[in-house]
Amino acid sequence: MMIKVSPSILASDFSKLGEEAVLCEKAGADMLHIDVMDGHFVPNITLGAPVVSSLRKCTSLIFDVHLMISEPMKYIPDFVKAGADIITFHIEADDDTKKTVELIKSLGVKAGISLKPATPAEAVFPFLDKLDMVLVMTVEPGFGGQSFMEDQTEKIRIIREECNKRGLFTDIQVDGGITDKTAPLVVTAGANVLVAGSYVFKSDKKAAIDSLKRLS
Ligand code: DX5
Ligand code: ZN
Repeated sequence: MMIKVSPSILASDFSKLGEEAVLCEKAGADMLHIDVMDGHFVPNITLGAPVVSSLRKCTSLIFDVHLMISEPMKYIPDFVKAGADIITFHIEADDDTKKTVELIKSLGVKAGISLKPATPAEAVFPFLDKLDMVLVMTVEPGFGGQSFMEDQTEKIRIIREECNKRGLFTDIQVDGGITDKTAPLVVTAGANVLVAGSYVFKSDKKAAIDSLKRLS
């Protein structure tokens, strides 16, 4: 499968977010991963829909919005209005999962479900046919720059196998600790969309993105 790279702006310089997004686009990113944290679902606060809306004016990159928030249904319409193209929420969040997927789709954008490390692969199976993407977290959500959890590769393998069994070409995204050293493990397991924060932003963006795309 073709590998798509989604740099996480969490690792960027927030004082020049627009410029950083443009640099990612020029460096060959396929999408931009936007981490939304509310200080409740995860112990950290990042940004909200107004920031996404401002950023929308700077780049035509696909906006891959990762909601790490409680009550996602309440905020999804705002993120769609702000310019999100893909909205991923956590299955562990308190809203009804099926209704949340339906809401995202009804607003005309792609829907993803994310699983924290402790959540089993099978939890996403009832929703798989309706999803554009499954996001397997390879760190505990909340912070960038954490170490990759290798035991999560088995979860990726189980979900890819289930997609294949059902004839689905669902994107499987991986987020947390992705580098040129860890990416081959998740790609071999069946992932095709790689989120990378520190790895892309703390070095040469193009070289980092190329090193991940080369795994295709
Ligand atoms: C963590 C976020 C990630 C994070 C990844 O909760 O969802 O997207 O930015 O950062 P790295 O690639 O540095 O682990
Ligand atoms: Zn993320």
